Amino acid sequence: MSKFAVLFVCLGNICRSPLAEAAFRLEAERLGLSVAVDSAGTGGWHQGEPPDRRAQAAARRNGVDIGGYRARQVRKEDFVRFTHIVAMDPDNLADLERLRPPGAQAELSLILEHAGRASEPVEDPYYGGDDGFDVTWADVSAAARGLALALRHGGA
Ligand code: 4NP
Repeated sequence: MSKFAVLFVCLGNICRSPLAEAAFRLEAERLGLSVAVDSAGTGGWHQGEPPDRRAQAAARRNGVDIGGYRARQVRKEDFVRFTHIVAMDPDNLADLERLRPPGAQAELSLILEHAGRASEPVEDPYYGGDDGFDVTWADVSAAARGLALALRHGGA
């Protein structure tokens, strides 16, 4: 059983947070860290859909298949089930703070805090070109590594 459970959250759960989930799974595996991992969106428009094709392609370029992931919306239980909820940008973080039930213990953070880039967002690549997804991958990978190392040392 793992002591930690990490949920990555963006707006649609089809671009950034599935890539963050995949990058974090890779880092956790590399470090031999046993941790539950998932991703979700603050919005529910893409519920049940696989990740955006461009996100799937970016993951594949980095050796990971995320074609089996399915989008879902954040729910209240997530704030109890997960020890860490990691937002991609400040809007996602503000939405999570509003949704958080009183007393829920999940620790909320902005993902690039874990890469030493405290208040920076992971820019939404949805409306841009394919290369934006490689920037997303680089951003979420750096943060995934930082977070996985922090958890290996007992906290974050
Ligand atoms: P994500 O990107 O939040 O990184 O999954 C988006 C995906 C879909 C939409 C917006 C952002 N949308 O408006 O449908």
